[in-house]
Amino acid sequence: MSETILITGASQVVTLRGGGPRRGNSLSKIGVIKDGAVLVREGKIAALGPRAQVERRAEAKSAEKLDVGGRVVLPGFVDSHTHLIHAASRAEEYELKIQGASYEEIARKGGGILNSVKKLRAATREALKRRAASALGEFAAHGTTTVEAKSGYGLDVASEMKILKLHQELNQEQPLEIVSTFLGAHVVPAEFRGKADGAEKYLELLMEKLLPELVVGDLAEYGDVFCDRGAFTVGQSKKLLAKAKEHGLTPRLHAEQLSRTGATQLAVELGAASCDHLEHVNDSDIRALGKSKTVATLLPGCDFHLGLKEYAPARKLIEAGAIVALATDYNPGTSPTMSMPMVLSVACNQLRMTPAEAIAAATINGAAALGREKKIGSLEEGKRADLAVCEVEDYREIPYYFGMNLCWMTMKSGEIVWMKD
Ligand code: NIG
Ligand code: FE
Repeated sequence: MSETILITGASQVVTLRGGGPRRGNSLSKIGVIKDGAVLVREGKIAALGPRAQVERRAEAKSAEKLDVGGRVVLPGFVDSHTHLIHAASRAEEYELKIQGASYEEIARKGGGILNSVKKLRAATREALKRRAASALGEFAAHGTTTVEAKSGYGLDVASEMKILKLHQELNQEQPLEIVSTFLGAHVVPAEFRGKADGAEKYLELLMEKLLPELVVGDLAEYGDVFCDRGAFTVGQSKKLLAKAKEHGLTPRLHAEQLSRTGATQLAVELGAASCDHLEHVNDSDIRALGKSKTVATLLPGCDFHLGLKEYAPARKLIEAGAIVALATDYNPGTSPTMSMPMVLSVACNQLRMTPAEAIAAATINGAAALGREKKIGSLEEGKRADLAVCEVEDYREIPYYFGMNLCWMTMKSGEIVWMKD
């Protein structure tokens, strides 16, 4: 396509204009322009507004036209929590779960994350890359333009480095932006278990060997810990994240997913970029998030897939003024989906978020969770031309339909990266 593109014929352009992350009532003010147009120049948004107004610009007249035929245009989804690189599904555990085994029971028997670690260590770099590249194609096909990706299924120096290097390669070789997170502290690997100080010894390896090595290669922007029952304690998480911070990584946390541990308070105390899951937060955690810049990232795909009834208290978090984001948590154990629209459907249905709130949480607030709210997450002049076009006339139909892909086109930095046949 030419350098300048005029996108016209949108029944609605959902802009999310107005700066920064959204809290409380502002979460639902998504700035819809009816019969809108967007002018894209050199990968960025040059202008947007009602069609007649944008079309009057001299530049619009000479631009290549892209008529979206009455569909809805919105910012590309920012999926701020995924475990992109893994070797295989865990469909065998899915069956056990359906028969009544809990996620933690399966993990205690050596399944769960350790099952994926075994599979990843046995996989070649090429196979891992092929699987991730194909997943990224699916993300793009569902309207996602930025994907955070965590390591955490390697859990030894070589395997974690292999994952982090793949993040870097994939970021360069395919169109979606990948934001890399180091999650060496996902669980204690099998070879460190069975000794009283196994977890401490493993953390030492992460802090003394792995962190310095990945920092030299500039392989991660964020450091994450699974702080929960069966994984790491608040004390251990604090120690590791403090060290990660010294090495220039911004902290984020898996918090209060299986039980309440106090990880949210730690996230707020550390000024973490986000704390994610939050099914078991209490009122004081909610208040703390309401006053902080730490994004409360909800991952309802997990509860949906695991068949759990207890979802994160999204309404209370919104009322308290927390910056609520939504993400897929794409991973083989708890949330095997690349579809942000599906997550929006579950968020509306189960978290009782409105379609407008869910869209804001999946775009501008996801961007905030990745420290990128000034560049992506909304359609505004000067921002990157990252957008999704959905096969609907009204944005509320995006979560309303479920289990089908309504994404018609995805654009990343002005390039069409996916289009329905
Ligand atoms: O975000 N909670 C920790 N990590 C993943 C699950 C990983 C797995 O089961 O493989 C999550 O849900
Ligand atoms: Fe996760």
